[in-house]
Amino acid sequence: MKNSEEILKNYLSIGLKPNLDIKWDRGWKEYIQIEGKQKKIIDFTSGILVNCLGYKNKSLTNGLKKVINNGFVHAYHYATDIKNIYIKSLNDFTVDLFDHPKFYLTSSGTEATETCMKLMLRSGQKFSPSKNKILTIEGNYHGRTMGSALMSSGSIYKEVWPLLNNLFPKINFPYIWNVSEENGEDFFQEEIQKLDEETKKNICGVLIETYQGWGACSYPKSFIKAIEKYCSKNNIVFAFDEMQSGFYRTSSKFGYEKYDVNPDIICIGKGMGGGLPLSGLIGESKIMDLALPGELSSTHSCNPLSCAAGHTVLNIMKNPRFINQLNENAYLFSSLGRELCTKYSFLTKKSNFLGMVGAFIFDLDDLEKSILFANHFCEAALKKGILVIKTGRESVKLSPPLIIKKNNIYKAFEIFDMILKSF
Ligand SMILES: Cc1ncc(COP(=O)(O)O)c(C=O)c1O
Repeated sequence: MKNSEEILKNYLSIGLKPNLDIKWDRGWKEYIQIEGKQKKIIDFTSGILVNCLGYKNKSLTNGLKKVINNGFVHAYHYATDIKNIYIKSLNDFTVDLFDHPKFYLTSSGTEATETCMKLMLRSGQKFSPSKNKILTIEGNYHGRTMGSALMSSGSIYKEVWPLLNNLFPKINFPYIWNVSEENGEDFFQEEIQKLDEETKKNICGVLIETYQGWGACSYPKSFIKAIEKYCSKNNIVFAFDEMQSGFYRTSSKFGYEKYDVNPDIICIGKGMGGGLPLSGLIGESKIMDLALPGELSSTHSCNPLSCAAGHTVLNIMKNPRFINQLNENAYLFSSLGRELCTKYSFLTKKSNFLGMVGAFIFDLDDLEKSILFANHFCEAALKKGILVIKTGRESVKLSPPLIIKKNNIYKAFEIFDMILKSF
């Protein structure tokens, strides 16, 4: 650990400081070995919702080895066998969800949402030069690059270049503790009415996180349906940021499916590559082809190793045995999570469990106390052998690899119960 502390202190930008000072040594299945810890640790993070197949997955390793043995691990934007195979498998995976899907591949989530923004702008330009505003939701997160950060809540750009922010109007998030299913549509209409006429007229795209990350907070379906209606009436591109929720994390292929709507684009990443840097867009061809030829190409888009990993993920996900295990795991994970939320009144009002992702949101007498307890929970869980996501807020997030064994789900929730009892 000394070595890691020295690297962090003397060499790494403080901007890369991790939220827990630990060093990962090894991984297998849903376990990781952490330096200085005697026991193997059960991973309830999947890294950060990325390692959906767990660690040391044989098919994933073999797929990567095959590419390495071919001699090149980079082929710029030229065609390769693995790229062709992967795009076909992505098409098979999504063809029932889009009329005519087309794809864009890149390496990070932030590049995907930034590209989504670009396509929204291109779409707006078809109607009017001033149709150039992108509507997003307060508290949502879409990435670190300039466009994606401006679409998120809070960023240096917002602080130091406030004028830019006018291009990214925001409406409030309908948290379940404030807005019921019956009020979702009215809430959306009221929020839209708060925008000035000029802004409303010039919205070219709406981007929403499928659930808000820090607390796995989803929306009333009526709110999302109202957005869809608003977008189709006003020539607005409707997009979900599925970075966290895609690839069965919420127990369906994509999280937006539960809202019963048809977006024009979805932004994907994280679990998509099973640990390799892979992200992108899936969208209706009429939107995806608004880009100029070559305009979206980037150094590592369609990287062969990433495509091989993505292909393995999809191969595994189409196996009925995987789907059975996932459904059973998701049911167990969410039921045990909700049981604890019912048992502890300070969790009941705000916490959320959606398939294989959940968050305990602490609702104590004051925010500072809730944050302190959430942080304490993370440290205590690690001491007892479970790694959870420390959000830095009044929540603790849980997202184990999808392939986790049931006995480890039981074990983790027993430990969570013990920690919560100690409060
Ligand atoms: C919803 C969402 N969008 C975008 C991003 C940015 O992805 P990346 O960190 O891969 O750039 C994240 C990352 O946490 C995310 O959760």
